[in-house]
Amino acid sequence: KIPVIIDCDPGIDDVMALLLAFSSDELDIKLITTEPGNQTQDKTIYNARAFTSYMKQDIEIARGLNEPFFRRLEVAADVHGESGLGDITLPEPTIQESSRTAIDAMKDVLMNSPEPIVLIATGPLTNVGALFLAHPEVKEKISYISYMGGAAVGGNTTPTTEFNVFVDPHAADIVFRSGVPIVMSGLDLTHKSYVTVDEIAEIEELGTELAQHMSSLMKFYIHNTKQTPFHEENFETNIRIHDLCAVSYVITPELFKGDDYHVEVETEGRLTAGTTVVDYMERTGLPKNVKVLHTVDRDAFRNQFFNAIKKMDRQ
Ligand code: BDR
Ligand code: CA
Repeated sequence: KIPVIIDCDPGIDDVMALLLAFSSDELDIKLITTEPGNQTQDKTIYNARAFTSYMKQDIEIARGLNEPFFRRLEVAADVHGESGLGDITLPEPTIQESSRTAIDAMKDVLMNSPEPIVLIATGPLTNVGALFLAHPEVKEKISYISYMGGAAVGGNTTPTTEFNVFVDPHAADIVFRSGVPIVMSGLDLTHKSYVTVDEIAEIEELGTELAQHMSSLMKFYIHNTKQTPFHEENFETNIRIHDLCAVSYVITPELFKGDDYHVEVETEGRLTAGTTVVDYMERTGLPKNVKVLHTVDRDAFRNQFFNAIKKMDRQ
């Protein structure tokens, strides 16, 4: 099994990523940590505890930082709702918040692990950035970071920034300069990693509560769907499950294609703070630190997600 830590900000697509991770026989989830992003820290940790309890998993969940490094937190209530989980209501969580902070827990799990761990990150990189500042020795224990965030071309928050990097560009900058290999599931990939509105019917036919919750979340999540010449057809009816990519890549890297580039995060730009600057014409001559994914076997990706819902339904 592949040992993983999941750092997230649930978040509609974050819980879908968690669901896929829970369903997988290939992953051994050592720890879940939360941070502010889609909603405040209090809400994201509550959602992580509620969803993990609902899925009957027994995993430590630790609280990360409460704010981005320098920027004022801007949450995405318009996309994920006031609670962070659209319009669904889950039972009260049975899993308690860990007595350790996310940074302490990540450090201990990493340093005590006999084998390298894959770090899956589906939120702003606030916790990972803080971890690297406080405990740089952990870097050697991470085989790579599977990260949902950034974009080679275009943004979903400003014209050039993707939401996760926009929330905390300074933390992202520390992580991208850390020397730890990064596999980036940015918008270039995640805009092609979708479920269509029509396909939701297959999930609804299962008729169970989990299927209903997933269907409600997917419907809530159709957002920012303005078609431009740069986007694929049917952009309005395709529900892009961004964070699922970061988990799916770890389980089935063969579904994805990408290339290695030097990538840096802009922290200061007048128009572009939070942009992942991808040197795809090799202008800088600097080392290639990021595998930027750009292509996915969409049908296989959709099937993997739906199979995860069906499998977890029966448990
Ligand atoms: C990312 O931002 C959040 O809204 C999603 O959970 C995802 O991590 C997409 O830009
Ligand atoms: Ca997220």
